Amino acid sequence: MPTALTTKARLLRVLDGEVLAEPPIWLMRQAGRYLPEYRELRAKAGSFLDLCYNPELATEVTLQPIRRFGFDAAILFSDILVIPHALGRDVRFVEGEGPRLDPIERAEIFGLSNEGMLDRLAPVLETVGAVRKALDPDKALIGFCGAPWTVATYMIAGRGTPDQAPSRLLAARDPEALDRLIDALVDASIVYLVAQLKAGADAVQIFDSWSRVLSPAAFERWSAGPIARIVAGVRAVVPDARVIGFPKGADRGLSDFVEKTQVNGVGVDWTVPLDVVRREIAGRAAIQGNLDPMTLVAGGAELDAAIDGILAAMDGSRLIFNLGHGIVPQTPIAHVERLIRRVRG
Ligand code: CP3
Repeated sequence: MPTALTTKARLLRVLDGEVLAEPPIWLMRQAGRYLPEYRELRAKAGSFLDLCYNPELATEVTLQPIRRFGFDAAILFSDILVIPHALGRDVRFVEGEGPRLDPIERAEIFGLSNEGMLDRLAPVLETVGAVRKALDPDKALIGFCGAPWTVATYMIAGRGTPDQAPSRLLAARDPEALDRLIDALVDASIVYLVAQLKAGADAVQIFDSWSRVLSPAAFERWSAGPIARIVAGVRAVVPDARVIGFPKGADRGLSDFVEKTQVNGVGVDWTVPLDVVRREIAGRAAIQGNLDPMTLVAGGAELDAAIDGILAAMDGSRLIFNLGHGIVPQTPIAHVERLIRRVRG
């Protein structure tokens, strides 16, 4: 029997406090449209949500980038909007446009309930179990959910918007309603993440893709605070739960965010000076990021230089190599291969 030390996935070692000379690497949205094998399977699956709720196909899609590139971690193939869907909201993905929801009304916010939520999410949890079973022990499986603020912005506006004006307006006009919506999403996220960890996820990531549109006070109230409650709520049930927070664009508030939420890792985008963040975080959390996805699309000498810059800025510190946001569909596969070769020396 191999010992725990030799089989513990490299990503988990860094989340648990180790510094590795060669950092673990995975990419946000690593299962997706830039892969021909994804496009082929996606065409057979029907709608995007049908794919998310089909354990056999979702397992296959989750494993595709691991087979092709040998990343250090798989991330569950699903979407942050399965939570509103499981809470009974209408969620559709329109081809070429993105998600559409029925904008939630005040009375509906106060009527939200978790009842039956996990039944609707059962196929996703089945996928978690199947992926963990199929994955080598030296690879980690990351589960995830959207942060309450980011999920709320889609529930309120009914779609993506450039600056989340409808949700910021609700925050200013009717903070009580937004508090209630966020609270409902905190409760749902705790239940969902605990279920993922019990089903076999080794760590979970909380995506707050829209935290950068919030003022410092609003960030505290609707992003960092709720994420801290999720982490505490999850650890009340799974004490050693590993959590990565990704408060995208929250650069000025990162150190406080780590202190308040007690995450094991924090994702940062490419607008953040890594040397400054590294000093501020001072080893209290692993830092995950932060290559610009467009640099990966472009490739060439610029890509090499950007990779080297990240490695140099984080030398001797807890780095999980990643992009600063999701990989985009036009990314050439050869550039991903080049990235992995360079990070692995
Ligand atoms: O990282 C992974 O590979 C795991 C799977 C994953 C998806 N979405 C698959 C997906 C994860 C972790 C997400 C998170 C997600 N979903 C976020 C947070 C991270 C981020 O990117 O900011 C958000 C805001 C969403 C909501 C969402 N889902 C949008 C806005 C869209 C449309 C945009 C797009 O790229 O088309 C989706 C659809 C979606 N989610 C796709 C994938 C692979 C593309 C749908 C398709 O294949 O047709």
